[in-house]
Amino acid sequence: MRTLLVLSFVTIALAGESALPDPLVTSAGKRVATAAEWPARQAELVELFAHQVYGRAPIGRPGGMTITVTEAASGVMDGAADRRQLRLAWKGPGGDGGMNVVLFVPTKREKPVGCFLLICNRPVENIDPTREKKSGFWPAEAMIARGYAIAAFHNAEVDPDKHDGFKDGVHGVFDEPGKPRADDAWATIAAWAWGASRAIDALVEQPGIDAKRIAVVGHSRGGKTALWCGAQDERVALTISNNSGCSGAAITRGKEGERVAKINASFPHWFTTTYKQWNERENDMPFDQHQLLASIAPRLVYVASATEDTWADPKAEFRACVEAAPVWALFEQRGFPVTTFPAPESPLHEGRIGYHLRTGKHDLTEYDWLRYADFADKYWK
Ligand code: GCU
Repeated sequence: MRTLLVLSFVTIALAGESALPDPLVTSAGKRVATAAEWPARQAELVELFAHQVYGRAPIGRPGGMTITVTEAASGVMDGAADRRQLRLAWKGPGGDGGMNVVLFVPTKREKPVGCFLLICNRPVENIDPTREKKSGFWPAEAMIARGYAIAAFHNAEVDPDKHDGFKDGVHGVFDEPGKPRADDAWATIAAWAWGASRAIDALVEQPGIDAKRIAVVGHSRGGKTALWCGAQDERVALTISNNSGCSGAAITRGKEGERVAKINASFPHWFTTTYKQWNERENDMPFDQHQLLASIAPRLVYVASATEDTWADPKAEFRACVEAAPVWALFEQRGFPVTTFPAPESPLHEGRIGYHLRTGKHDLTEYDWLRYADFADKYWK
């Protein structure tokens, strides 16, 4: 049944599943037919996901935010890279906060290079600036060897990943003290996405970085975050979702593994109060996750799955790419010219949406990163 669905390319429902909302049909029922009409529909989609799923950030770049270069070293990684460590600091009505960003830029470069920013949701040693610890989760040496800059920040510095009633992290800094929270106030994924945008504020002004070639990468909860950042922040040229699954890249209707009621129960702080109304009511949702991918058009998107990651549901992630693709046609671009679920290790890089299925478990590995570099080479070199 699932195979038939993806082969058909058009939106049909699985048995027991309501039709998917069309990214190209506005809330007023009008079909978007030209590229000129897209920005208004795109804004409508971003608003839909802000209200229904992730919540609204009360602030963009805070006035008075400071960006300090705390260290600059050239010729690290055996001479291959320049390292910069940055400290961002902000103040709000509830106090102050900040985050660290680590950046490696290839020392040998003829012109500014593209930069991959990881939203790190694993222990901070995965993004070790000293490189004493190395991890496939953030294979900095390998990306430098491919000619790209690589950066990272740790999500918990922006907002700790726990449900404390939105007191800590940037919620505590920027929410008006004592003011009741709206049902669609920013939750934790929105806070991390906000942090990624602040990291971009800093990256675009660093020497050697091409501000037009910024990729944001996230794994799992970080992948959900990357998508929400890419949807909102036009500076993200390439949005990469690695194994993001439920409430990330995977279409919710008919999804296997994790579902809305489960994710809301396990991680209530990731999403808005409004999102809780869709527990066990996926068929009634006025949106689905392919529209989040679509809202990034015409910029580049990449979705990656892993064969053993049934909790995320690789086929539901692939299906979202198929269903988002028609939006790129408005721009006379190929969105995702594939409808057949691929074999493992057979990356699909023919359209503006990239996809691969990796053999193995839920993880972000060097294999995944090298495919992201291949895709970037295709469009950026
Ligand atoms: C849990 C959660 C997923 C999430 C994952 C992760 O498994 O249910 O939705 O993607 O954690 O972030 O690793």
